[in-house]
Amino acid sequence: MKAGFIQFNPEFGKIDRNISRARALMASVDAQLLVLPEFFNTGYLIATRQEAWDLGEPVPQGKTTVALCEMARAKNIHIVAGLIEKAGEKLFNAAVLVSPDGYVATYRKMHLFNEEKLWFDSGDKGFEVYDLGICKIGIMICFDWFFPESMRILALQGADIICHPANLVLPFCQDAMVTRCLENRVYAITANRTGVETRGGKSFRYTGRSQITAPGAQILCRGVSDSDEVGVAELDLAVVREKKINAFNDLFTDRRTDYYGSICS
Ligand code: ACM
Repeated sequence: MKAGFIQFNPEFGKIDRNISRARALMASVDAQLLVLPEFFNTGYLIATRQEAWDLGEPVPQGKTTVALCEMARAKNIHIVAGLIEKAGEKLFNAAVLVSPDGYVATYRKMHLFNEEKLWFDSGDKGFEVYDLGICKIGIMICFDWFFPESMRILALQGADIICHPANLVLPFCQDAMVTRCLENRVYAITANRTGVETRGGKSFRYTGRSQITAPGAQILCRGVSDSDEVGVAELDLAVVREKKINAFNDLFTDRRTDYYGSICS
């Protein structure tokens, strides 16, 4: 199957403009699954809880999810895209999964980064794997990568591909994903944004270099650091479904879970 990322530079607060830009970049892509960045519709550098609240949307009835469903139907693809989810009094750093038939699911970021802890509620639904028919995917958002448990638990639940919307500001993730994919024998699609945001006395430069990483530690596609880009790769799911790495070793059954207890304490 073919899957890929959309990398671009969202303009803060300009939801209609950012949805249009994502739609335009998607127009000529030939793939069955596409991943968009974290907060692709709003931009990232929030300065107050009120600002986050004003940019949030209910899912699935909010206009961004409705637009994503329309794009997925028109192109006959699955899309994973990051946005601010408003749920009652709560706000989540979330990613929605939509299919050609409509809205499927929402992931709520489990490991909030830095001041996100001031604006958002921590994810309360854990890590889930979704069977798209063509493949099984898991979702994590940006800083979740820093916790190896995120990808491990998704891999253990049967994910073939980790969809990873991101707004990375540190330079480490792209290289780390090589090991994450090797140790879990999964593909990963990190869709990062580009550009600089300066707001509320802070300035963030996003690192771009979106990446499709393969289970054998290969980088199938890596974007540039500073401009819009669409990357697509052919993924062979038979490779990720075989967790035996030689005649004697199996990535999952060789785990010494009887000695790993303190990881969860
Ligand atoms: C991040 O989690 N947006 C760095």
